[in-house]
Amino acid sequence: MEKEMVIILDFGGQYNQLIARRVRECNVYCEVLPYYTNLDRIKELAPKGIIFTGGPASVYEADAPTCDPGIFELGIPILGICYGCQLMTHSLGGKVTKAPVREYGKTEIQVATRSKLFHGISENTICWMSHTDYIESPASGFTTIAESSSCPIAAIGDEARGLYGVQFHPEVVHTPEGTKMIHNFLFEICGCSGDWKMSSYTEQMIQSLREKIGDKKVLCALSGGVDSSVAAVMVSKAVGKQLTCIFVDHGLLRKNEGDEVEEIFTKQFDVNFIRVNAQKRFYEKLAGVTEPEKKRKIIGEEFIRVFEEEAKKIGTVDYLVQGTIYPDVIESGLGKSAVIKSHHNVGGLPDYVDFKEIIEPLRDLFKDEVRKAGLELGIPEKLVFRQPFPGPGLAIRIIGDITPEKVSILQEADYIYREEIAKAGLDRSIGQYFAVLTNLRSVGVMGDERTYDYTVALRAVTTTDFMTAEFAELPWDLLGKVSSRIVNEVKHVNRVCYDITGKPPATIEFE
Ligand code: XMP
Repeated sequence: MEKEMVIILDFGGQYNQLIARRVRECNVYCEVLPYYTNLDRIKELAPKGIIFTGGPASVYEADAPTCDPGIFELGIPILGICYGCQLMTHSLGGKVTKAPVREYGKTEIQVATRSKLFHGISENTICWMSHTDYIESPASGFTTIAESSSCPIAAIGDEARGLYGVQFHPEVVHTPEGTKMIHNFLFEICGCSGDWKMSSYTEQMIQSLREKIGDKKVLCALSGGVDSSVAAVMVSKAVGKQLTCIFVDHGLLRKNEGDEVEEIFTKQFDVNFIRVNAQKRFYEKLAGVTEPEKKRKIIGEEFIRVFEEEAKKIGTVDYLVQGTIYPDVIESGLGKSAVIKSHHNVGGLPDYVDFKEIIEPLRDLFKDEVRKAGLELGIPEKLVFRQPFPGPGLAIRIIGDITPEKVSILQEADYIYREEIAKAGLDRSIGQYFAVLTNLRSVGVMGDERTYDYTVALRAVTTTDFMTAEFAELPWDLLGKVSSRIVNEVKHVNRVCYDITGKPPATIEFE
């Protein structure tokens, strides 16, 4: 079956992933390719449309990224965004000029609603500008289809050839009608039908995994996180018991988590599931260690050792499943194959496991698409919408040395916190939230008794990319309830604090 697709040519802009997201939100499949992708490859892919992204360069720079001008002759509609618009203009004989100052921020523009790109858009609409160069005169065949007081040529179009360019960024939320513009480009201009649906994607992927794997053996290191779980279930739907999942319980998971993962993979799906209860080994290795990076290293190395021992029992396998997702592929450099995502951010699995090839069933999917696929496959919502959890687990949420007792204190406190957040209906809107066992002990009073016990810190952040974050403004009554439940229900905790630092300067985790 021929797949309808759109190509996004990447000229180095910061919003490229966002453009791809928007296109897929319109149910059109797209792929991001580097700007130097050759014309034959593009013809071979037969896209319904092409989008040129923005980028930091100026068309007049000597080494500015360009594309084969033959692309304009293919008869495939093109939308150029920012640099993409300037490049199109420059390549087709128009004039691009450097403005004395950069135009940046929200701007009101007036659009020609008769243009297909702007059908149904308000005549005066807000858009997000971020450019220095601008179009002084469009190339022949183009007319101006949007203007603003500071940018007389804010958008151009050659309706006959299906070539369009916008100076602004329709893909960002600061352009409220931007998605509608992208939708117009895809459906009115490119004639897309919008056949990208998660159900057909998962079906096709399962079928192609079945064909590829045949009767061979597959191995998967299951962390219980969303990506590895969805990848494993897809493979299991394709080849059932030919898949073996190894789940290492390092004793640093959240309360009940190990049992929940085991329950899902043994009762609901038809795989060979091996749970390795390696808690004791990890605790022994970690005893007395206080330095965060050392903890990470120990856990990473021990994980590899445990996994290796189990994998050896199985013998040679043909394939190893990895939960690599599309942002990993884009970030690790287009045109090259993705760097294998290292498990737990330390060490890499494939070096020491005897296998022939890696399978990455989620390579084409964004995180929210992975979640959709997970739901399609029947994975419980609880797992599908799980917040990110670091590989080293609670080890980096217990400040100082780790003991089984401290793990248990933290598990109980964290469980109460998560339960109350869920009850308050906030579990999907907060990026990440968890309890931390600080190394601080202080004096308190319980009944008539003096106590000398631990302080638990609560953390909750809102973030989109986990690179920066703000502390979440949780309601006081919720915090109060969590605090009193923790001190009442968890032994050895007599004080609860809420972390009100953003990232930067703090990090999300405490270690
Ligand atoms: P920080 O603390 O650096 O965390 O602001 C950013 C995101 O990364 C996660 N994180 C880790 N994930 N192994 C992981 O797999 C680690 O060692 C690790 N350290 C931090 C953290 O939970 C947050 O989502």
